Amino acid sequence: MTELTIAMPKGRIFEEAVSLLRQAGYKLPPEFDDSRKLIIEVPEEKLRFILAKPMDVPTYVEHGVADLGIAGKDVMLEEERDVYELLDLKISECYLAVAGLPNTKMSDVAPKIATKYPNVASSYFREQGEQVEIIKLNGSIELAPLIGLADRIVDIVSTGRTLKENGLVEYERIVNITSRLIVNPVSYRMKDTRIEELVTRLNSII
Ligand code: PRP
Repeated sequence: MTELTIAMPKGRIFEEAVSLLRQAGYKLPPEFDDSRKLIIEVPEEKLRFILAKPMDVPTYVEHGVADLGIAGKDVMLEEERDVYELLDLKISECYLAVAGLPNTKMSDVAPKIATKYPNVASSYFREQGEQVEIIKLNGSIELAPLIGLADRIVDIVSTGRTLKENGLVEYERIVNITSRLIVNPVSYRMKDTRIEELVTRLNSII
């Protein structure tokens, strides 16, 4: 049996993804709960896991160094990689929204939008017929309107706490997000029985 390599997103989604795989019957060692390792081998399951930054998961899968990956729909929309989406895992539910300071209008000329998702934000405002200037940030996006860097942000809202605690409000909801199981197209053809087994086992518990 060939080994499957799965790219896992470090951070928020990680725990839920590990728990889902365990519920599906995969015996994942305690290293998954507390370790700094970036590659975890699970020879008993013929699985190897690589732990990547969430935004990079589709890159590893597209290049075929990982057969499969778990990635948020937000990342899939932003990265537009050549991979197949096999399953909606229905974990890490959240949404992408436009937010900003309450009762403020956007500047008439090229309003500034701060975001970690420049592609999603550009296409959203293009569809709305609005010309905007996108400012790419890597985190703490909510800071941007507070200190005058941007008129609005496009960011993930999960519990809504970050917006609330920083005195920001949501203006529009762009799209609902959940995590997806993604696959490299070549791996899908070559190792299909093992991948089918994983999909069946995950499907039975989603
Ligand atoms: C994400 C997102 C928001 C926050 C939303 O940031 O960018 O800032 O979570 O969650 P909430 O609605 O439950 O408050 P994350 O914590 O991943 O860190 P980041 O600021 O580095 O992007």
